[in-house]
Amino acid sequence: MTDTNEMAQRCFLVTGASSGIGLAIARRLVADGHDVVGIARDFSKTAYSHERFQAVVADLADLETLPDRLQRLLADHPDISGAVLCAGRGHFGNLEEFSYAQIRELVDLNLISQIYFARALLPHFKRLECSDLVLLGSEAALSGGRKGAVYCATKFALRGLAQALREECARRGVRVTLINPGMVHTPFFDQLSFRPGGSPENFVLPEDVASAVSLVVNARPGTVYDEINLSPLKRVIDFG
Ligand SMILES: NC(=O)c1ccc[n+]([C@@H]2O[C@H](COP(=O)([O-])OP(=O)(O)OC[C@H]3O[C@@H](n4cnc5c(N)ncnc54)[C@H](OP(=O)(O)O)[C@@H]3O)[C@@H](O)[C@H]2O)c1
Repeated sequence: MTDTNEMAQRCFLVTGASSGIGLAIARRLVADGHDVVGIARDFSKTAYSHERFQAVVADLADLETLPDRLQRLLADHPDISGAVLCAGRGHFGNLEEFSYAQIRELVDLNLISQIYFARALLPHFKRLECSDLVLLGSEAALSGGRKGAVYCATKFALRGLAQALREECARRGVRVTLINPGMVHTPFFDQLSFRPGGSPENFVLPEDVASAVSLVVNARPGTVYDEINLSPLKRVIDFG
């Protein structure tokens, strides 16, 4: 029987690694013994450093430059065998309250940049014996909610992407996973008019999501966690 140690000491790319879920995942993967290349626009707020964590600054919403950046990233880190794509943000409201530019901005970051990452990474991953592509969906990937039209559209689409790539890539040893958290206690809500309730039973911790990612990427190579849903024990939302 194959043992999980065969998967030790890998190099992972984690987007959104300056904050919240991505940062917790980066820390957990480093603690698991892996190397991490973290991507975000601004690491000045990130109180974390480790010799096996490298921060790379990039604006993933800049789709014009993204393909070249990704090519350079792979050239600089040819040992990458897994990617956890967490960069994303929330913007909520009735659809007519969005400008066309705001719609485009959210879709570019939450969806198109993830597809570009997959496009750039998969040819490389398909040459490896085992690799992981982990996408951060949401409970908003599973059911549409009030004021969430654009956000839900991006997350539903990510679920379609994950399911299609799961089929496309399995024969080449690429494991594709979608993780769908409910409300997670992160700075995601700093600019929003709602947040999870204050009790620990009202939110998932970023470290809980990181534990799920650790389970996924450290699993026996022949096993895939297709999709993981995790949510607070009690759903309470604070408005205002
Ligand atoms: N919190 C929740 O309740 C929850 C629930 C389900 C799913 N999610 C999903 O989880 C993911 C992470 O969210 P979070 O809760 O961890 O929020 P967060 O703490 O605000 O983190 C978002 C991360 O994305 C990065 N980012 C944002 N715009 C970027 C850009 N244009 N280019 C590069 N990086 C960018 C941010 O870094 P910089 O600002 O430094 O660029 C930050 O590292 C998102 O995809 C979100 O949709 C969150």
